[in-house]
Amino acid sequence: MELKITCIPGDGIGPEIVAEAKKVLDAVAKKYGHDMQYTDILMGGASIDVHGVPLTDEAVATAKSADAVLMGSIGGDTTTSPWYKLPPNLRPEAGLLGIRKALNLFANLRPAVLYEELAQACPLKQEISETGFDMLIMRELTGGLYFGERKTVEENGVRKAIDTLTYDENEIRRIAVKGFDIARKRRKKVTSVDKANVLDSSRLWRAVVEEVAKDYPDVTLEHMLVDNCAMQLVKDPAQFDVILTENMFGDILSDEASMVTGSIGMLASASLNDTKFGLYEPSHGSAPDIAGKDMANPIATILSASMMLRYSFDLDKEADVIDGAVKQVLRDGYRTGDIMSEGCEKVGCKRMGDLIVERVK
Ligand code: IPM
Ligand code: MG
Repeated sequence: MELKITCIPGDGIGPEIVAEAKKVLDAVAKKYGHDMQYTDILMGGASIDVHGVPLTDEAVATAKSADAVLMGSIGGDTTTSPWYKLPPNLRPEAGLLGIRKALNLFANLRPAVLYEELAQACPLKQEISETGFDMLIMRELTGGLYFGERKTVEENGVRKAIDTLTYDENEIRRIAVKGFDIARKRRKKVTSVDKANVLDSSRLWRAVVEEVAKDYPDVTLEHMLVDNCAMQLVKDPAQFDVILTENMFGDILSDEASMVTGSIGMLASASLNDTKFGLYEPSHGSAPDIAGKDMANPIATILSASMMLRYSFDLDKEADVIDGAVKQVLRDGYRTGDIMSEGCEKVGCKRMGDLIVERVK
C-alpha cells in the first residue's frame, strides 16, 4: 500500500520525536511491504522563523494532498521566546488552530490509559490506581471559545477583553455521533460533559447529545458537569469510557486525564474530519527546556503513528505490531527520563526509537 504522509516536525522536541516515529513506521513498512512517502511542512515557530507566519497556504495545501498528517509539537517558552512578542494571530499556536480549521478536524480523540507497566508513575493513591483505567476523551476541536470572535477594547480608559462561545446544533451532532460510534467499539458508555447549569451552549449541547443517543440504545449515556468531572477524574477514573465534550473543557480535562496516567509522554491523539483523513500528534507539548538534548520520550508520537495506521489506513495489524513493541520495550525495563523508575534502564530519545524498531522487526 502507498501511504502519503505529511510530517510537521514543528518546534522544541518535535523534530526529534517525529524522527523516531518515522524510523518505526519505516520498519513496519519494510516488514509488511508498504511504501511510505513523507513530505515535511513547517508550522508554528519553525514557520514563523522562515515565513513570518505560523502556517502558510502552501503548507495547508501540502497537508491536504496527503492521506494523513503526523505532527510532533509546536510552540516555545511563552515567557522568553520572541515568537510570543508577536500579535496572537501570528504566534505558533495560531498555526495549529489554523490547520485544524483548514482541514476541518473537528473530532479530537485523546486516549488516557494507565499502562500496567507504568502503574508506579500514577500519582493517585494505590487503591484508586490498582483497578487501572482506560478512557478516551472525544474533544470537539473546531468550534466553541477557541474559534469564536474575540477582541480587546478600551472603554472609558478600562481595558476589556471579549471571547465568544458559540455552537450550532450541527457542530454538536457530528461530534456526538463520533463519540457514540467509538463508544460502541469500546465499553459502550458515553459521559457527556458540559456546564448546563450555567451556559446556553451547554444546554444545547445536552439536548443534541440526547437526540443522538436515541440512535444508540446499546450505549449508556450520562451527563456530568465539568467541575464535577474534573474531580471524578482523580477520584474514580475507572468509571469513564468515552468522555464527550466541547473544545475548552476537552483541552483542560485531557491534560488532567493524561497527568493521572503519570505518563503524558506516552499519550497519543488523533484529530479527524468526516473522511479517513486525520492529523496525529502526541498529547504533550514541545518541552523547549529539553529540546535537542536527546532526552524526550518519543513513545506518544510513535503511538500516534500507530493510531494513524489504524484510523486513516485501516492497517490494524501493523498498528498492533507498534503497540505491542511499545509494551514490550516497557516490559523489558527501558525508560526515558519522564517515566523512569527504580530498577529500569534510562535511555534517550534515539535509543528508545531503536529499541522499539528492534521489537517491530
Ligand atoms: C492542545 C493544545 C492546543 C489547544 C494549543 C496549543 C492551542 O493545548 O492541543 O491541547 O488548546 O488545543
Ligand atoms: Mg491543551
